[in-house]
Amino acid sequence: MSVSNAVATSLPDQYDPLNEQVKQNPYPYYAKMRANEPVMYLPQMDAYAVASYEGVDKVLKDHKLFSSQFFWPELLGEYDPVPEVAPMISMDPPNHVHLRKLANKAFMPTKVAALEERARAIATELVEGLIAKHGKEGEFDWVWEFTALYPVTVISEVLGVPTARRAEFKVWVDDLLAAANRHAYGPERLAEIRAHSDQLRRFFEDLYDERKQNPQDDLISTFINAEVNGETMTRLEVLQMATLLLIGGVETTTNLLGCTMVELRRHPEVYARVRADHSLIPQLLEETLRFNPVVQMLFRHTVEDTELCGVKIPKGKAVMPLLGSANRDETKFSDANVFDIDRKPEVAMMSFGQGPHFCLGSFLARMEARVALEVVFSRLETVDPIAEAEDVVWLDSYFARGPHNLQVRFKAR
Ligand code: HEM
Repeated sequence: MSVSNAVATSLPDQYDPLNEQVKQNPYPYYAKMRANEPVMYLPQMDAYAVASYEGVDKVLKDHKLFSSQFFWPELLGEYDPVPEVAPMISMDPPNHVHLRKLANKAFMPTKVAALEERARAIATELVEGLIAKHGKEGEFDWVWEFTALYPVTVISEVLGVPTARRAEFKVWVDDLLAAANRHAYGPERLAEIRAHSDQLRRFFEDLYDERKQNPQDDLISTFINAEVNGETMTRLEVLQMATLLLIGGVETTTNLLGCTMVELRRHPEVYARVRADHSLIPQLLEETLRFNPVVQMLFRHTVEDTELCGVKIPKGKAVMPLLGSANRDETKFSDANVFDIDRKPEVAMMSFGQGPHFCLGSFLARMEARVALEVVFSRLETVDPIAEAEDVVWLDSYFARGPHNLQVRFKAR
């Protein structure tokens, strides 16, 4: 166990999600906010950031005051491949409930358990590919050569994307995820994202039409035929749901595996224990999710004038619950800044959200990440990041958290 993220004096004074240094390590800023100003107005974003566990919990659970309606438009803007209908992540109850019930069926623990062997086969194929490419000993990039390829392959399989189209599919998905950073791109890159968003939509339209005629054992077919209270999903709703699963399920799981490897680098004593006993992998993942969550914050909008933790927030304002800060709230987690895989948390962590939009894919994400580590630790005798954890370059994002790349040295068994 060790304490990390001490406040460095040379850094900016206040939490500014757009600041480069803050993005690299937001935790000292979160700590300051929790102590001094748990709800803070950010003029540069015209939004209210919420840092305390209680504040975040309230925002996520009270959908009547804090609406999700603008979440998707904010994330994808004009690059949404299915702009005609909102995805459920951008709907408030009661409308949200209908779609959620339909989708829940596909992500129940029993359904996820049935996918485990396929996930294991995909992870094994990727690791064998690495050994074939680099030899029995050498270096590879944990992020670009492993974790970025794995969840997208699993979700392609789940959705029913034919193997022959997987490479194109990955390019479209990557560009859809890039749309979240559209403000930073020039016209050429934006034209590319537009084209790929359109191609993804056409691909899903064709897949829908094909599966409508010939249902298969895949998620698109399940959605086409699923019924709740005698109602089925429309074609556009199925297309939007498929897009949502890509956005929600690909980069997040990639980053979870990235963050986990960084924590293992930072805590060699934990690494040694987990390598000797793979049954500790779930605990390792839970603590990584709490300590350094891959989704750092969410967006909501106030439905009416309100007050949160003593701060007045006018109607129609953006509110940013900081999940990464709530997970370090000292009033809720003992030794909150200590990475401790043996921790027995007294309250739920916020990493998968709370309330009506609690992550649909949490069972799938946990299974995927566990299986990936089991495969890697079984097949590779060593796999160690080369850089110090403190030198890792994190994604240039205040929303998503994960190492940008992570060169590792490995030795196969
Ligand atoms: C480590 C991995 C993951 C993390 C940390 C994560 C995190 C989250 C969070 C914080 C939310 C709440 C959003 C909100 O309240 O507005 C959410 C919702 C969601 N997640 Fe995940 N997620 C992960 C993996 C996945 C996977 C693998 C899938 C599916 C393939 C998925 C699908 C979804 C969907 C569909 C929603 C929206 C649920 C709703 O609106 O009811 N997620 N996720």
